[in-house]
Amino acid sequence: MDALLGIVFGDEGKGKVVDFFTPHYDVVARFAGGPNAGHTIIFEGKKFVLRSIPSGIFDEGKLNIIGNGCVIAPDLFMTEARELEAAGYSLTDRLHISRRAHLILPTHRVLDRAYEAAKGKNKVGTTGKGIGPTYSDKAARVGLRVGDMLNDFEEKYRALKARHEQILHDLHFTDYDITEEEARWMEGVEYMRKFQLTDTEIEINDLLEKGKNVLAEGAQGSLLDIDHGTYPFVSSSSTTSGGVCTGLGVAPNRIDRIFGIFKAYSTRVGSGPFPVELFDETGDEIRRIGNEFGAVTGRNRRCGWIDLVALKYAIMINGVTDLVMMKSDVLDSFDTIKVCTAYQKDGKTVTDMPYDTEGWQAVYEELPGWKTPLSALRDEADFPEAFKDYIAYLENALHTPIRIISVSPDRAATIMR
Ligand code: IMP
Repeated sequence: MDALLGIVFGDEGKGKVVDFFTPHYDVVARFAGGPNAGHTIIFEGKKFVLRSIPSGIFDEGKLNIIGNGCVIAPDLFMTEARELEAAGYSLTDRLHISRRAHLILPTHRVLDRAYEAAKGKNKVGTTGKGIGPTYSDKAARVGLRVGDMLNDFEEKYRALKARHEQILHDLHFTDYDITEEEARWMEGVEYMRKFQLTDTEIEINDLLEKGKNVLAEGAQGSLLDIDHGTYPFVSSSSTTSGGVCTGLGVAPNRIDRIFGIFKAYSTRVGSGPFPVELFDETGDEIRRIGNEFGAVTGRNRRCGWIDLVALKYAIMINGVTDLVMMKSDVLDSFDTIKVCTAYQKDGKTVTDMPYDTEGWQAVYEELPGWKTPLSALRDEADFPEAFKDYIAYLENALHTPIRIISVSPDRAATIMR
C-alpha cells in the first residue's frame, strides 16, 4: 500500500497525479478531510471537481473508499455523486463509505461561520464547509457517524442540532436560516443510504491480505495538519502519513511508499503565516500563469517561491520516499528562480520549521531561470540545463529523489524518472 500526499499547503495538483497513478492500484481510499478538498480532474475533455469522492472513481475497475478519518456532508456528497452518475460513472457498487466517518450537519456549517466571525482579525479563513466543528464534535464524542444513519437517526440528528443551536444562541449568532439546506441535507441522507456503508477498515485489511494494492489519497496538505501544520491556521484533520493509518485503520508497517507532492513554487489559501509570500508583480505573475484560484472557494491563492524549510519538515513528518514536482512550467518565464533556504527573525536564522511560524522572513538563494517552455517536453534528456540544475539542487537539499515531474496540465506531460 502506498500514500500520495500534498506536503505543503494543498492544491498541489493531486487530482492529476492520482489519475495517473490509479492504473497501478486496485483501491483508492481517502483518509482525512471532507468537502473542503477540491481535486480538479480533466478527463476526456470534461472537467470534474471531486470533493469527497476518491479520484479512482473514473476507472471502472477500481474500488473507492471514503475512510473513517473523513467527514462527509450528505447534501454535497449527493450533488457530487449525481454529477458523476450523470456523466455515466456507476458509483454504488464501486464506492464504499466507512460507517465510522462523521457527518457534517447544516448547523456545523453555521458554527464554522460563527466561530470565524468570533475570531475577528485572527480568522483561519476556512472553506466554510463545517470541517472544524465536525471534527470538534468527533473529539467531544457527540458527533453523528455515517453508521448512525442506519438506526434512530432522526432522534440523534435532532439532539445534535439542538446542541448546536444552543451554542449559536450563546454566541449571539442567530441570523441564519437552514430550512432549505436542511431539506436537501435530509434528501442527501436518503440518497447515501443506497451506498455501501461498511466497515472499511476491515475491508481494506482483507484486500491487503489478498495482495491487492491500495493507494491512500491525501487531501489538503501537511502544513494544514492539525498537529504538524501552522496551528491555529490549519484544517482539523491529520493530513500527514500518520493520518493514513488512523484514517483508514491500517497499521504503519502496511505502508510501502509515500509520495510527497509539491509545486515548483508555493501557494497558500486562507490566513496564516507564509514567509515566502510575494506581494509584488512576481507573485501576481505566478498566480496568473499558475491559475492559482481556489477550486472550492474561488479565492485568490497567495503565491511565493519554493520553501525548503517547509518541504524538509514535511518530508521528515511524512517519511516521504519519493517526491512529485508539479507545475514546473509555471516558472518558465522568470530570469531567476528564488529558493527559500532559511527563515530569519530578530537577527536569528533557522533552517528547521519553528514552533511559532509568525513573523519570519524568508532567506533566499537565487538560481538562473531556464527561460524555455517546458510544456511540450516528454523526456528528461530534453530538459534545459538550468531546469536540470533546479531539480538537482532540490534533490540535494531535500535528500529525497524527485521521481515524477509534471510540466503541463496534460496527462501525458508527466515524466517519470
Ligand atoms: P477548513 O479545512 O475549511 O477548516 O479550513 C482551514 C484552512 O485549511 C483554511 O486556511 C483553508 O483555506 C485551508 N484548506 C482546507 N482545505 C484545503 C484544500 O483542499 N486546499 C488548500 N487549502 C485548504
